Amino acid sequence: MIEKIVRFNKVVSTQDTAKAFIEEKRSLAVTALSQYRGRGRQGRTWHSPQGGLYVSLLLFPEERVTSIPLLAALSVVRTLEELGMSRLTIHWPNDVLLGNKKVCGILCERYRSSVICGVGLNVNSGKIGHRLENATSLRLETGRDFDIDEILGFFLRKFNELYEELQSKGLKVKEVLNYISGLGEPVEIITQHGVIRGTVSDIDDDWALLLRDESGIIKKYYYGDVRRMQW
Ligand code: BTN
Repeated sequence: MIEKIVRFNKVVSTQDTAKAFIEEKRSLAVTALSQYRGRGRQGRTWHSPQGGLYVSLLLFPEERVTSIPLLAALSVVRTLEELGMSRLTIHWPNDVLLGNKKVCGILCERYRSSVICGVGLNVNSGKIGHRLENATSLRLETGRDFDIDEILGFFLRKFNELYEELQSKGLKVKEVLNYISGLGEPVEIITQHGVIRGTVSDIDDDWALLLRDESGIIKKYYYGDVRRMQW
């Protein structure tokens, strides 16, 4: 349960700032108005000017943690629904798409006894870096500005609700399946051991992605970067 929010104006990366609070031994959120060097997955940079939501959750999960990226993604979806948005999908396990364009990225990292789950949401950006034609922001989609602090409040409430549900085994994978994009589509999944091609078959009860590879064998992935072959 996240009860405390620590706020900064500008940090290198909220992922790293969150580590400094590990001795508190309780879950909290670290947020900043902007980041000097926001980090994305696969060593990428997360462009972090003012006008976005940048938050890292420092979590001490009791057991399995495989569901945390999806839990964060589902919390973002529920938050955006509350703000009146639709056409939301989750690109397993880390991205939230709005109208088929990426609006939010999630980076989960283990650090000692914790998991640090970082969420970057493009809120009031008027344009997104020219290399990212598949990205968007809430403002680009709706033509208006949003209160970032209010979004953070909604997001943390949703995350706490879902986290509690998960711990009490009340949360079913089905909730997420409704939003997963790309079921049945050909994808490449980039793992620590290389690139695997296949089609997305399902999300199982462990919250893992089931991928049918080119020889028809179904393999299970808890984490990785999925690239859709047909966008
Ligand atoms: C991705 O899509 O590659 C993941 C992007 C994650 C960005 C967030 S912003 C808050 C937190 N701090 C960081 O440096 N990264 C994450």
